[in-house]
Amino acid sequence: MADLSVNLCGIDFKNPIIPASGVFGYGREYEEFYSLSELGGIATKGTTGQKRTGNPAPRIAETPAGMLNSVGLQNPGIDYFIEHELPNLMTKNTVILANIAGATPEECAEVAEKLDATDVHMLELNISCPNVRQGGAAFGTSCEMAGQVTAAVRKATKKPLIVKLSPNVTSITDIAKAVEAEGADAVSLINTLLGMRIDIRTRRPVLRNNVGGLSGAGIFPVAVRMVWQTANAVKIPVIGMGGVNTGEDAIELMMAGASAVQVGMAVFTDPYAPIKIISQMNDFLDQNHISSVREIIGTVQPW
Ligand code: FUM
Repeated sequence: MADLSVNLCGIDFKNPIIPASGVFGYGREYEEFYSLSELGGIATKGTTGQKRTGNPAPRIAETPAGMLNSVGLQNPGIDYFIEHELPNLMTKNTVILANIAGATPEECAEVAEKLDATDVHMLELNISCPNVRQGGAAFGTSCEMAGQVTAAVRKATKKPLIVKLSPNVTSITDIAKAVEAEGADAVSLINTLLGMRIDIRTRRPVLRNNVGGLSGAGIFPVAVRMVWQTANAVKIPVIGMGGVNTGEDAIELMMAGASAVQVGMAVFTDPYAPIKIISQMNDFLDQNHISSVREIIGTVQPW
């Protein structure tokens, strides 16, 4: 068995695999398949100051190598999360990353302040949701706004702060540097790529929101490129995600510079995907006589 453990921002993970925010709810459905303690961590669904019902349906569309979603940050609100979901999650012997979002920097800071008073291990600030009119990608596509919202949340919490970045930008490294300068302890990337499908018989967009976020295997090369660029631009750790389906994908993202890896859409086609990925990573390391996964981080040798 290779050593799969990693440490991010002073927090020990038993392995680098974390189901991504929005695909795993609060873990309850997946617990029917395996013990959540097998996971490196869990990123919870983005939580806002108040309950949100999300966007009108249809809000999911299949694509040839993935899916589009326009969920719109449906969630029960921070008070419900803290009272009804977090206590259960904190018993699972895995690292809990509370993903947070808001329409304004003040709302994000208020949510962070409430979580600061809990035992949650880390916060992941979502400045990259493409499906909301206020906040989300509107924060994450401008260095100034990304810096402002990061600074507001930084003031509100001493917990390790990860900022989740959008790929829908000209320069992801500029955004990463802006949030690093305002106190982010890590960045996670990539969130979904903005996309659209049209039903050619009705001439209507397939999604009621017209556009949505593309995830799945089709975006993996974009994720590898952006993780590599970002890891070379900032000093803080990078958590990679975007179309990871196999252990070899996770190894590839880590060679690009990721210190840990989130698994998104893959859990919809196979709920066991994170567990299989952990096992496949171990196989790769054993077969290549690598004793610790930490040895591979950022080891790509560009031409
Ligand atoms: O619409 C959603 O809830 C998705 C959020 C995200 O991609 O960050």
